[in-house]
Amino acid sequence: MAFDPLQERGIPLDEQLRDWRELHVTPIDPDHADPYTRCRIITMNGIETEGILFSHQLARHCPDLEAKRQLARVRYLEAQQQKVVNWLLPGVASVLETTIAYEQVAVDLTSWVARMEPDAYLRQAYQFGVLEDFDHLYRYANLYEMIEHRKAGKIVDNLTEVMPGRPTYLHHRDPVDNVREPYDRATTEPLSRLHALTIMAAEQQTMNFYMNVGPMYMEPIARQLYQEIALIEEEHVTHYESLVDPGESWWEMLLTHEYNECYLYYSFMETESDPKVKHIWELHLSMELEHLRLAAEMFKRFDGREPDQVLAPALPPPVTFEPNKAYVRDLIATQIDQTTLGTGYVREAHERFSRMQEAIMGGEQPPSERVIDDNRAVSGQEYRLETEGPHPADLQPAR
Ligand SMILES: [Fe+2]
Ligand SMILES: [Fe+2]
Ligand SMILES: [Fe+2]
Ligand SMILES: [Fe+2]
Repeated sequence: MAFDPLQERGIPLDEQLRDWRELHVTPIDPDHADPYTRCRIITMNGIETEGILFSHQLARHCPDLEAKRQLARVRYLEAQQQKVVNWLLPGVASVLETTIAYEQVAVDLTSWVARMEPDAYLRQAYQFGVLEDFDHLYRYANLYEMIEHRKAGKIVDNLTEVMPGRPTYLHHRDPVDNVREPYDRATTEPLSRLHALTIMAAEQQTMNFYMNVGPMYMEPIARQLYQEIALIEEEHVTHYESLVDPGESWWEMLLTHEYNECYLYYSFMETESDPKVKHIWELHLSMELEHLRLAAEMFKRFDGREPDQVLAPALPPPVTFEPNKAYVRDLIATQIDQTTLGTGYVREAHERFSRMQEAIMGGEQPPSERVIDDNRAVSGQEYRLETEGPHPADLQPAR
């Protein structure tokens, strides 16, 4: 049965505030939880964080006092949702363990979105990005083995493979080449808007996370690796945010944000294996339905259009965390040597790319390469988790 969030009733705003007792949620058990439960938590934290930051930006551009007050009320509740969601993560997990989970989210969420994306140009943008976060996972997994003497396989639980993707050092492009062409808001499928917003939000929180936790390490290689990958996440945010049509009005963007929150909570409610966490997705969905209703009112008032002019008549199939091993292997076999030139993709190291590479490397090996060598020296071999056979690039004839 199709679920249309615009037709459903949610919890009235006055009844959404939670007290300390309700905010104090029990975190998941890192040793026994489904890794994809943790992925859903991380995803929703990114979505709520984007919701809060977007609402702040909108408020800063909004001269209408009443509208601003309503934004503040809803935003406070979004802030409570963010606290509840992110506090489901256990304090016993190390920063590096959470980092590895962040990259697992990037791999399996972006792969899902790429598989479902109807537009070929947008799909290519997700396929391009996924091979990079896939490689980050491998670099961090080696750092993890080296400094914490543990294996990333325990965290990703064999659902996601750990091996080289497009090598991290090749992700450092001239910023100009990170800007993509946007979709056209007049003709795009509603699902494409949701995809772009979801992946942008996920990458943005990864960028924020690395830029803040990176300096908390004492080991020089850890500090350096976080610095390097944090800079790539900056590139990824640029890449994904440029897919969104900048011609959308602020109220249209607000509407899409609330709709997307409904979509994802609904998706995760449908697919969650942990009953306690599922209950939170359900509760938050009921809250979001009311946020959406209020956003739709503002959209009608300030934008003069009807919400169904920009939203789908019903929710698309639920966003699902599931293994994407064959999909990623296929991308490795076919797209690993790509880079960007202008708003498109090429296979050769063009001049602007080479200039950037030279400037940032400064004649030295980057941290992402050194971490592999260092771990080989400490652990006897580099860390990989190849559950489906040898690395696909090894199967190709040497060039
Ligand atoms: Fe929310
Ligand atoms: Fe990444
Ligand atoms: Fe990324
Ligand atoms: Fe919301």
